[in-house]
Amino acid sequence: MELRIERDSDVDNWKEVILIYNAALKQIYMKLEILNDEFQHVHRYNPIEHIKSRIKTSESIVKKLKRNGYESTIKNMVQHVNDIAGIRVICSFTSDIYQIAEMISHQTDIRVLGVKDYIVQPKESGYKSYHMLVSVPVYLSDRIVDTKVEIQIRTVAMDFWASLEHKIHYKFEGNAPAHFQEELAECAKMVSELDSKMLSLNNEILKIENGE
Ligand code: GTP
Ligand code: MG
Repeated sequence: MELRIERDSDVDNWKEVILIYNAALKQIYMKLEILNDEFQHVHRYNPIEHIKSRIKTSESIVKKLKRNGYESTIKNMVQHVNDIAGIRVICSFTSDIYQIAEMISHQTDIRVLGVKDYIVQPKESGYKSYHMLVSVPVYLSDRIVDTKVEIQIRTVAMDFWASLEHKIHYKFEGNAPAHFQEELAECAKMVSELDSKMLSLNNEILKIENGE
């Protein structure tokens, strides 16, 4: 499976498109780092544990286009695949997720194209995470290209769960035995409990620190 590349100009286009997505990813990464540094300076703690970013492989892009009934062209990928540039932000506490999401959405050069809150409304699998689809302007020598980036924000515990679930999903190609799904659902519940207990403990600590 390959993206349809027929002319030399298509190769150049592909390279340029990837360059642009990479630039968009770098910008969002930098913005998140700046917010984290500022937070450390003001509140004496880091809301962000770590950040991972990736550009979707051409194989995955083609698979997704096919799954959604689109021809594998560069135009279609730019238009219909929203997670070519993806960034994952791992936080300690659920409250950090919403603070980061708000800070990002208030930046005037960022346009929020959509939000999916799988924390308030978890997926049937038990998946929890906060997804934002944003667009950021990339300045090239002769034009500005608004570029989409998918930001996934979740806690360490949610990320732990999602990694294992992803592994199981891949291993069984979506047909995991029922007991895996039950156990995963059980684990998802434990993740929620853990997150809410850790948050309330942290809030107590903060109160003590502030002399309340
Ligand atoms: P795709 O799932 O990528 O086709 O996009 P979508 O438009 O359906 O968006 P959605 O918000 O459902 O998922 C986007 C991304 O979130 C996925 O590519 C995964 O990285 C992650 N994700 C969504 N659902 C699950 C899930 O049930 N388990 C895990 N481990 N990850 C998930
Ligand atoms: Mg999906």
